[in-house]
Amino acid sequence: MAPRVLLTGGAGFIGSHTVIILLRAGYAITVVDNLVNSSLKSVERVREIAADEGIEGVDLDVEVVDMCDKAAFEKVFEKYSVGGFSAVIHFAGLKAVGESMALPLMYYENNLINTMNLLSLMEKFDCRRIVFSSSATVYGAATEMPITEETQTGAGITNAYGRTKYMIEGILSDFQKSKEKTEKPWSVTVLRYFNPVGAHPSGKIGEDPSGPPNNLMPYVSQVAVGRREFLSVFGNDYDTPDGTGVRDYIHVMDLAAGHLSAITYMDKKPSVYSVFNLGTGNGYSVLNMVSAMEKASGKEIKYKIVDRRPGDIATCYADAERAKVEMGWEAKLGLDEMCRDLWAWQSANPNGFE
Ligand SMILES: NC(=O)c1ccc[n+]([C@@H]2O[C@H](COP(=O)([O-])OP(=O)(O)OC[C@H]3O[C@@H](n4cnc5c(N)ncnc54)[C@H](O)[C@@H]3O)[C@@H](O)[C@H]2O)c1
Repeated sequence: MAPRVLLTGGAGFIGSHTVIILLRAGYAITVVDNLVNSSLKSVERVREIAADEGIEGVDLDVEVVDMCDKAAFEKVFEKYSVGGFSAVIHFAGLKAVGESMALPLMYYENNLINTMNLLSLMEKFDCRRIVFSSSATVYGAATEMPITEETQTGAGITNAYGRTKYMIEGILSDFQKSKEKTEKPWSVTVLRYFNPVGAHPSGKIGEDPSGPPNNLMPYVSQVAVGRREFLSVFGNDYDTPDGTGVRDYIHVMDLAAGHLSAITYMDKKPSVYSVFNLGTGNGYSVLNMVSAMEKASGKEIKYKIVDRRPGDIATCYADAERAKVEMGWEAKLGLDEMCRDLWAWQSANPNGFE
């Protein structure tokens, strides 16, 4: 029987792409999602892609459950208790930075409680391997580039969303340590994502933000497709080559592959707490991204320079060497592929999954 992996938040942007990578690798999958920021259409499309790619023996189940409802969540673990979950990839969480400042309690409650429920159920049902979706935002106001996993975290985080990631990393570390000397040790892999963009090359799945996008590239692609008039560029007086903010963009398929690497890495490490940056190590400015998207889409992308956004830093890019050395993972796709695939998704689905 194929090992089964539980993907919390697996109907979302990064989760749905990771499902494809894991199906290709022969895993059985259970997705748990309450669809607060996603739709079952993404899972339907994943099935189509699996068929298009000729993946055999697809075993993909979906449970629509709010993980904060522990009793309902426990039923999922019970349902799969024969065979169980060989590992969990924990994507589920609320992720809009601005919203997290307006509604911090909602963010702390959802992101922390769903994690606590998950860990206690994993313990009860004896699943002891977890990959956690963290973020470069835990590095707060780091100024020295590139950012390594040893760069200080916690200081200078400017929003509640980022603090939930920082807190969850702490919870996972304490918990893993408490199990180290027992007969049932845990393996925990924390993946700190830089800026995921792009889509599966088929254009059938992609990022589908509800309301105005918080991140640059979904906004840029909505301008390209005519859904929004212009892009607001937050500041052009940063200390960067063209004055606009520089970030490390990573293709979502590369990022998804990092989760498979993390699972196989933990196969060899029954007791470990590891942290990896997932980025390309390249920094691109807002204006670099705009012109790359103009090239990919053949559309003009209008923009206006507006004030800086509080909390934004000039430059942020990763040192992703540790993931390469220890997990054998590295990003393979470049800016052209990111924009080509984002455009394939956006142009075929101008209104997302609607
Ligand atoms: N996309 C990014 O730029 C980025 C960057 C760094 C980290 N991350 C993290 O990666 C993870 C996945 O991000 P994404 O971009 O795919 O986001 P997403 O919103 O598309 O996916 C998250 C999924 O979790 C589900 N969810 C939320 N709360 C839940 C709950 N209580 N019970 C069950 N399901 C719940 C949502 O419905 C959604 O499908 C998140 O934890 C996010 O914080 C994302």
